[in-house]
Amino acid sequence: MSTASADPAGFIRRNTALHEPPLVPEVKLHLATEIVPIWQMTEEELEQSGLPPPFWAFAWAGGQALSRYILDNPDVVRGKNVLDFGAGSGLIGIAAAKTGAKPVLSTDIDNFAVEAIRINAASNGVEVEATAEDLVGVENRGWDVVLVGDMCYERPLAERIEAWLRRLAAEGVTVLIGDPGRTYLPKTGLEKLISYAVMTTRELEDTDVRNTSVWRVLPG
Ligand SMILES: C[S@@+](CC[C@H](N)C(=O)[O-])C[C@H]1O[C@@H](n2cnc3c(N)ncnc32)[C@H](O)[C@@H]1O
Repeated sequence: MSTASADPAGFIRRNTALHEPPLVPEVKLHLATEIVPIWQMTEEELEQSGLPPPFWAFAWAGGQALSRYILDNPDVVRGKNVLDFGAGSGLIGIAAAKTGAKPVLSTDIDNFAVEAIRINAASNGVEVEATAEDLVGVENRGWDVVLVGDMCYERPLAERIEAWLRRLAAEGVTVLIGDPGRTYLPKTGLEKLISYAVMTTRELEDTDVRNTSVWRVLPG
């Protein structure tokens, strides 16, 4: 077992620092201090031990936009049962909990992300449950709102989640997606709620600012 996977919490603390994402200064997250080294480190370990790249070490543009929208429109989540799906650092679920959502469940299939979500929730003094269970396709477990930040970057993943999210929307769940124009964002069946200019880094994106929108999934 690699050092990192033996002690995910230690790895996260050693390779990150508490930062505020530019569009969401209300939330502090353990984010990569230097992007390239942490990405390479996990990619090298990936070859040895199957670790995924550290998506959890960044506040992605889609997640920042959706978090901003929630904080500015608290009625969307206040007092509601919320799922942050594909949570990464946990940014969106933490923003929802800060806004008064309860309970909040954050899911990510990467065990490092689950650890990062727990650490980041504690750093913000909010209650968020975190799990690595893959929930795609499951029945609604009581969620009023499902929040999805920046998940449309791979075709198989985007296709798997679309049918599930549409079914939840058809059952009356409010399903919101934050997305900076990724290739596999569905082209139809979405209502645009708002757009933001999100500062990004050229180490992750091909531009300094990404026009990023929050979409409501229409019932299928
Ligand atoms: C680009 S990151 C976005 C993270 C966060 N939502 C944000 O906006 O900052 C996508 C995340 O989705 C996670 N992921 C991929 N497939 C998943 C699945 N089936 N269930 C839960 N998470 C998944 C990845 O591990 C990764 O952390």
